[in-house]
Amino acid sequence: MKDMPQLGMGTFRLEGEVARESVSKALEVGFRHIDTAQIYGNEAQVGDAIKTSGLNRNELFVTTKVWHESLGEGHFIPSVHESLEKLKLEYVDLLLIHWPYPGSDVTLESYLGSLAKAKEQGLTRHIGVSNFTIDLLNHAEEMLGKGEVYTNQIEIHPFMQNKKVVEACKEKGVKATAYMPFAVGKVMKDETLLRIAQNHNATPAQVVLAWMEKRHIYAIPSSTSKEHLAENLAYGGVQLSEEELALVDGLDNGERIVNPDFAPSWD
Ligand SMILES: NC(=O)c1ccc[n+]([C@@H]2O[C@H](COP(=O)([O-])OP(=O)(O)OC[C@H]3O[C@@H](n4cnc5c(N)ncnc54)[C@H](OP(=O)(O)O)[C@@H]3O)[C@@H](O)[C@H]2O)c1
Repeated sequence: MKDMPQLGMGTFRLEGEVARESVSKALEVGFRHIDTAQIYGNEAQVGDAIKTSGLNRNELFVTTKVWHESLGEGHFIPSVHESLEKLKLEYVDLLLIHWPYPGSDVTLESYLGSLAKAKEQGLTRHIGVSNFTIDLLNHAEEMLGKGEVYTNQIEIHPFMQNKKVVEACKEKGVKATAYMPFAVGKVMKDETLLRIAQNHNATPAQVVLAWMEKRHIYAIPSSTSKEHLAENLAYGGVQLSEEELALVDGLDNGERIVNPDFAPSWD
C-alpha cells in the first residue's frame, strides 16, 4: 500500500480544462499525490489527467473528500462510487470527511461508520478526516479505533500554524496535512520568508515546504503553472537552519482564511 507522499497537488478552485491541464502538468513534472474533493466539481478532469498520464495506478496517491450532502447513510457509499466513476479509478488511496457535519440529523457515529465501510469494501486504502477539532478527532479515534485515522487535513500556513491540533495529531500518530500552505499566495510577499529564501537562492514557496517537512506536516499546494509546480517539487534542496525554522515558527498570528459559517468552534 502506497504511503502518502510528503507533497501533493491541491485542486480547489481548478475547473474544467484548467483542472485537467494543471493535473497533467503536475504529473509530468513528477507529482504523484493529487488532492481533490466531491465539492470541487473536478473529479472527472482529475481522472482524465490521470488516465492520459499513462502512469501505473500503484505509483499514484489520490485523495477525495465526501461533502456534507452525501454524509447520510443512504448517500455516502453511492457518492463514493460516483467519485470513483468520475476519477476512473477502482479505489482512492485516501477518503476524507471534508467537514464535520454541522447539523444534528446525521451523527458522527453514522458517517464515520460509512467511512469505515468504504474502506472495508475496498473503495479506499486509507480513511481520514478534514477540518476536525481535537475533540472531534478524539471521538473519531474512539469510534474507528487507534491508528485508523490516517490524516487530519486542516488549514496550516506560516500565519496560521494550528499548533494545538498539529500537536494532537502527532500524539495520536495521525498525519497532519496542510491545506492552503501558501495562504493562497500570501507567503510569496512575506519579508521574513523572502529573506530566508534569498539565503538559499530559493523561493518563499520552497522555504514554506521545507519548513513544513521539518515540522512533520504534509502539504498540498495548488498551482496551474508548470514552473511553479516544478519549483514546489524541488523544495527538497532547501536546508533551513534551526534559526530559520524558528523565524518561520514566529510568523504565526492566527490568521485563518477558511472559516465558513458551518465550521466547528476551532481549538
Ligand atoms: N479540506 C479543506 O477543507 C480544504 C480547504 C481549502 C483547500 N484545500 C486543499 O488545499 C489545496 C491548497 O490550497 P489553495 O489552493 O486554496 O491555496 P495554496 O495552495 O495556499 O495557494 C495556491 C496559490 O499559490 C500559487 N502558487 C503555487 N505555487 C506557487 C509558486 N511556486 N510561486 C508562486 N505562486 C505559487 C498559485 O498560483 P499559480 O496557479 O499561479 O501557481 C495559487 O494562486 C487546495 O487546492 C485543496 O486541494 C482543502
